[in-house]
This record gives sequence, structure tokens and C-alpha cells, in this order.
Amino acid sequence: MTTNAHASGRRAVKAVIPAAGLATRFLPATKAVPKELLPVVDRPVLQYIVEEAAAAGITDVLLVTGRGKTSMVDHFDRRPDVEARLEEKGDTERLAAVRRTSELADIYTCRQGEPLGLGHAVGVAASHVGDSAFAVLLGDEFVDEEEPLLPSMLDLQARTGGIVLAFLEVEPSETSRYGIASVSPSEYGDDVVQVTGLVEKPSPAEAPSNLAVLGRYVLPPTIFEAINHTKPGSGGEIQLTDAMAALLNDGTPVHGIIYRGHRYDTGMPLGYLQAVVQLAVKRPDLGAEFHAWLTEFVGNPKG
Ligand code: UTP
Repeated sequence: MTTNAHASGRRAVKAVIPAAGLATRFLPATKAVPKELLPVVDRPVLQYIVEEAAAAGITDVLLVTGRGKTSMVDHFDRRPDVEARLEEKGDTERLAAVRRTSELADIYTCRQGEPLGLGHAVGVAASHVGDSAFAVLLGDEFVDEEEPLLPSMLDLQARTGGIVLAFLEVEPSETSRYGIASVSPSEYGDDVVQVTGLVEKPSPAEAPSNLAVLGRYVLPPTIFEAINHTKPGSGGEIQLTDAMAALLNDGTPVHGIIYRGHRYDTGMPLGYLQAVVQLAVKRPDLGAEFHAWLTEFVGNPKG
């Protein structure tokens, strides 16, 4: 095994959640409510994401917020009034659920003054992150808690010192919805590939593979300098992909883990509905009843 000169052997301990976008694909719901706070069963999307970070040992979480989105931070505060009422009622289960949100992680926040792109949103995290590798978790997707992804990404980044991405295998016809990677085999096992290039939303004919970039990244601190030098790209936005491509060209190792578990994409109505249904069916408290209703509904959709 070869290790990179920049590899620290230490796992990243901070996460950044960019959540300052306009969420146009979910309008009008997202005019006043951040898409990150839409409930999946009875927890907001953002809570699943912070739980994912915490389960991977990351308890320093920076939320990048923007105009009209500060309510996201409130979700992780204590609510003594609500807790007192639940205590009075003896509702210990809900009391534990409410308290848990404020105990998951240390939540920090910073502002992206204008939504100038994902790269720009990561860039505003520079002073909080400092000179260490860190994880980025997009605010509208999460993976199944029984099939964690982040721990293996953090371990791999500690070994390579470079960029670690995660990929989903998509149908060839779907490549134009994703960032797609060109790859070669790596020395780190069958599910880890070496990334040789990244293309934003290629047509099926132009796609170099069917490996789509998922919203989890572990990045070295050199990304901040690269972001500073990145000019607005597609859609006039400062793209994280462009900054990563610049580091790749300069010799930073870039690897990707092929994720074979389940990813929930709640950034638009169809994916959101699928996440709600799939996670409701899995819930021990309401899964059986919901599943029975759903089966009947599917057999007789008008009812
Ligand atoms: P998306 O590409 O989903 O953009 O961003 P969006 O604005 O949220 O949604 P659409 O495409 O208009 O429907 C992926 C993640 O990056 C954040 C978003 O909040 C989301 O979590 N983001 C995007 C920012 O924080 N700032 C930006 O300028 C852009």
C-alpha cells in the first residue's frame, strides 16, 4: 500500500452541512420553510443528516444557512417549555426524542450571504474548519442508518490525505441528472475507485461511467484555496466540482467509494415522497399499520 505525503492517519472530526440554497425544485413549499426542515415521518431531513454525522463520530457540525433559514438551528436547541409539558404528562418516549435533538452534536452556524453555489457555500466554512480535513454532507440527502457510508469515507481519507467521494451506480439513461466520474481501479479494494475526472450532468452518450456523485465528500483543507480561485461555472454558480477538479489536476489523490446501500434524496417531491414511504414502512411503531394501508391503497388507488 502507498500512502500520500499529506495523509495524516487521523480521521476528520468536523462536518459542514451546506443548507443555504434556494430549493427551487420544491417550491412553493420552500418559500418560507427550508427544505432541510421538511419532515420525513416525524423528524426533519436535517436531523437524519446530523444523526448520520454523529454516528460516524463527528460531533462538530457547521450549518451553512442563509436568508429565511435560521429556524434550522432552532431545531437543535433545548425546549424547556416543551420538555416540562411532556414530563408533566409522563410522556417519557417523546421527552427523550425531544432532548435527543439537542444532544446529538455541537451545532455551529455561519451565513452564506447569497446562494452563489455549493463551492461558495463550502468556502464560507473555511475559518471554522481551519487546517484539517473535513466532511461535507449535503442538506437534502441521507443514507440508511443501517448501511453507513461516512465511516469508511473518513477512514479512507485519513489514509490518502486527498479527496474522498461516494458514488451511486445509476441507470445509464439517468447520467444527465448527476455529476459523473471517470475512474480506474484503486489499490484500496473493489469498492474503491481512483477518480481520473469529473463531468457535470453528461448525456448518456458522453458519460464516462454510470458512477454518480452522492452528496457526501471528505475534503482536505486545500479545497479552500481552490474554491477561492474558482470562477463561476455552470448556472453562474461557484461549483464545488470545479474546485475539486483543480485539485485533481494539481495531483491531489481523489478516490470514490461505491455505495451499495440505500440513499434518500429529499431535494424534490418524488424522492421526498419515496423517502417518507420507505422510512414509514420501516418504523417499528407504525410500519405494520402503514404497510397494510399502503398495500390496500395500491390495490385500489381511488379508495
Ligand atoms: P442543490 O443543488 O440541491 O440546490 O444544493 P438548492 O438551491 O438547494 O435546490 P434547487 O436545485 O434550487 O432545487 C445542494 C445543497 O447545497 C446547498 C443546498 O442548500 C443543498 O443542501 N447549497 C446550494 C448552498 O448551501 N448554497 C448554494 O449556493 C447552493
